Amino acid sequence: MTQPPSSPRFSDSLKRFTGILSEDDLRKIIAIQDAALPTGLRINPLKADPTAAIVALAQRYNWQVTPLAFCDHAWLIHSADFSPGRTIEHRLGEFYLQDAASMVPVSLFDFDTPRPRILDMAASPGGKTTHLIDRAQDQGLILANDASRSRIPALRSVLATWGGVNQVVTNFPGESFGAWFPETFDFVLLDAPCSMENLRPTPNHPLRQTTQGERLRLQERQIQLLISGLGALKIGGQIVYATCSLAPEEDEAVIDRVLRAHSGAFVVEQVADRLPFKTPGLTAFENETYHPSLVHALRLWPHLTGMSGFFCARLKKVRPLPIAPETPPSREFARTGLAPASPLLQSDINTQLLGRYGFDLLEVMQASQARLFTRHASVFLIPGAYLEQFSTLPFEYIGLPLGQWLGDTLQPAHEFFSRFGRFFTRGKIRIEDDQVDTWTAGRDIRYPNTDRTPAGQYLLVEDRDGRILGMGKLLERRLRNMLPRAQV
Ligand SMILES: C[S@@+](CC[C@H](N)C(=O)[O-])C[C@H]1O[C@@H](n2cnc3c(N)ncnc32)[C@H](O)[C@@H]1O
Repeated sequence: MTQPPSSPRFSDSLKRFTGILSEDDLRKIIAIQDAALPTGLRINPLKADPTAAIVALAQRYNWQVTPLAFCDHAWLIHSADFSPGRTIEHRLGEFYLQDAASMVPVSLFDFDTPRPRILDMAASPGGKTTHLIDRAQDQGLILANDASRSRIPALRSVLATWGGVNQVVTNFPGESFGAWFPETFDFVLLDAPCSMENLRPTPNHPLRQTTQGERLRLQERQIQLLISGLGALKIGGQIVYATCSLAPEEDEAVIDRVLRAHSGAFVVEQVADRLPFKTPGLTAFENETYHPSLVHALRLWPHLTGMSGFFCARLKKVRPLPIAPETPPSREFARTGLAPASPLLQSDINTQLLGRYGFDLLEVMQASQARLFTRHASVFLIPGAYLEQFSTLPFEYIGLPLGQWLGDTLQPAHEFFSRFGRFFTRGKIRIEDDQVDTWTAGRDIRYPNTDRTPAGQYLLVEDRDGRILGMGKLLERRLRNMLPRAQV
C-alpha cells in the first residue's frame, strides 16, 4: 500500500485515501493546499448578455478571465486589481461569485422540460438556486427551501438581488417533501448539509478534521433527505445529489444505502462527458463495497480539477418509493395579505410603465406566466405555477417586487429596475464619468446634467457606456440615490 508522505498539513482525512490515491496524487493534494483558488463568476443572463458582459467587466476592472468549459455563462478570474465582490455590477446582481466546483451540480441537469417545477431542498445562501433560475430561464417554478431559519434572510437577499420572478422561498425540513409532494417536481437539487471535508481549504471553508461519528450522523440525515428528494421527484425526473465533502460516507455510501433499500427505484446516470476530467466515484472504500453504478458519480478530487473538492451524482427516478403521503403545512392564501390586482389597476400600471419606460409589463407577465398581486400599497409579480400548485404552502419570500402604488402612480421597486431596466427604451438618465464613484458609493448627484423637468420622476441611471447603475429620483438640482442602503 502506498504510504502517505509526511507533512505537517497532512490531515487524517487525507490519510484515509492512502491506497485509493497514488503517492503522487497525495503529494499533489498537499502541494496545492496553500495555493489560492481563482474566483469563479457566473453572469446573470436575466440581466445581461453574458458574453458582452464579461468582456466589459474584464476591460473595466482589468481582470484576466478564462471560460469554464462545463458551465454556461461562467468564467474564472485569475487576477483582479479590484475585488469583484465590491463592484456595482455584483451589487446589482449582474453576476454571482462562486467556486467553480459549486457550478458542477446544476450543470448536470438536462433542462429539456418546458416550465419545469424545480425543488432546491437545501438552498441557502442560494448560489445554486441562482444557477437553477438561469438554466430554467426563469420559467416554471423554483421552490428554494432551507431548514435553518437563521439562513433564510441570506437566501431571500441573494434571490431578490438575482431578480428571478418564478421563485418561492420556504423554511421546512427537507426530509418532509417526499411525503408532502410525491412525484411533483421535474428536477430536484439536494446540495446536502455535510462536513465540508473537501481536502482543499478556502478562506470560507478552512480545513477541518471530522470524526467518524460526525460523518455517520450526517450520513443518516443525508439518506433521509435523499429519500425525500427522490419521493418528491416525478418518474423520469432527475435529482442531483451533491456535497462539498469527499468523505465517502457522505457521498457514495449515501447513494449506495438508498439504492439498496429501494432497489430499482432510480439509476445513477453516466454524466462524465460533461466534465473535462476523469473523476469516477468509488465502488469500494475501507471495508465496504458500493453498487457498481457509483462509478458514474463524480468525485472531484481537487488536484485533478484545479477546483475545491466536491462530490455529485445525477440520479434518474424510475419507480415510486414507498413513502406514506402526508398533508403539507397549509395556510389559506388570503392570509398572506396578497390579492390579485384588478384588471383596471393592471391596465393603469402597464400604461404608466409603457409611457415612462417603454416597458410592456403585460408582455413580460405573459412570457413568464406571472400574475400581478398587491399587498396594501405594494405590487408584486407572483409565479403562476405557485398559485396553481402550491398556493396554500406557507412561504418566506415570493416572486419579484414591482413597486408601490401611491395615490395613482407607481413608485418602482429597485428589484424591478435592476431586473428589467435593460429593456427600457426611455426614462433613463446618464451620469458623467466623474460622478460614477459618488453614485456607486450611495451618494446623490448634485446638479445632474439633464433638461428634464424634475417632477419626482424615477429614472434608470446609466453611465456613458450604457452600464445600468440602479434607480434615481430626479429632484430640483439633485438626483437622489435609490440604491438599497444594504448595497452601498
Ligand atoms: C451546503 S449548504 C447549501 C448551499 C446552497 N445550496 C448554495 O449553493 O448556496 C446546506 C444547507 O442545508 C441546510 N440544511 C441542513 N439541514 C437541512 C434539512 N434537514 N433540510 C433542509 N435543509 C437543511 C443548511 O441550513 C444549509 O443552508
